[in-house]
Amino acid sequence: MINPRIRHFIGLNFVILNIIKKQAFFTKKKNMPVSQKNENKDNILSIDIGGTSVKACILNAKGDLCSEYKKLPTPKNATPKDILDVINQLVPELGLDFEKISVGFPGYVKNGIVETAANLAKNKWSGVDLAQQISNVFGKPVRLINDADQQALGIVAGKGFEIVLTVGTGFGTALLFDGDLLPHLELAHLPITKNKDYDDYLGAKAFAKIGKKEWNERLKRVIEIYKVVFNYDSLYIGGGNAKEIEFELDHNIRTVSNKDGIKGGAKLWDLEEKYHVHTTNPKKK
Ligand code: BGC
Repeated sequence: MINPRIRHFIGLNFVILNIIKKQAFFTKKKNMPVSQKNENKDNILSIDIGGTSVKACILNAKGDLCSEYKKLPTPKNATPKDILDVINQLVPELGLDFEKISVGFPGYVKNGIVETAANLAKNKWSGVDLAQQISNVFGKPVRLINDADQQALGIVAGKGFEIVLTVGTGFGTALLFDGDLLPHLELAHLPITKNKDYDDYLGAKAFAKIGKKEWNERLKRVIEIYKVVFNYDSLYIGGGNAKEIEFELDHNIRTVSNKDGIKGGAKLWDLEEKYHVHTTNPKKK
């Protein structure tokens, strides 16, 4: 028989021990991001601005995902301020520090300056120094290129002539030779019928209007054209609607996800600065 006083003492200790354990668990949980923060000096914030959603994640220099992959809807007719607001909302949710920023933008971009954005607010994007604005907000250097170009860097094998098409809100195209991005061509805006460009023909609006079956026929037709015109070695099809493809693809064509593509944000920082790869540094206040 254990003396009741000793039993009471043991019981009390057990309760105290449990309280301490619980406390330690919560303290550890609360502090976790802080210790993670200190360990990730070369991390890259990779952002993919799309016509339907803005996605973001933190990558390490090798392109591995270090945070969750988060997205928020792109506001309708998004202005530069709307996009900055969404980015400002998304980034704290990732919970990790970063040293550099990569941004894929759904339009023509030169030296970090946006020239066009067919699927965002009309007449609000020409000449916008988006890279500078993002860089100033976070106090970090930014590389901003076309969205399909950034996705392509995360996807291609780096051998021969490779093309990445993205079928989402718009029709994105990226051309690469031995892994090097060729100057960005807005193939989305080549006419394919008397009154339609590729964006009109295959974009999300067309999908909603004509339905899956006819959209698949259109995409098949476009692939046939690309085959004859470009003679690519490999073709990758990404973007939100890639999962809607119903026909059999040639052996050198495969579908990829937006999540694969966002890893291009790490590759972008491996590239030498040239023509379309431009670093924008924060301006001191
Ligand atoms: C734009 C391209 C972009 C594509 C996918 C098109 O409307 O012109 O620059 O890559 O959409 O977002």
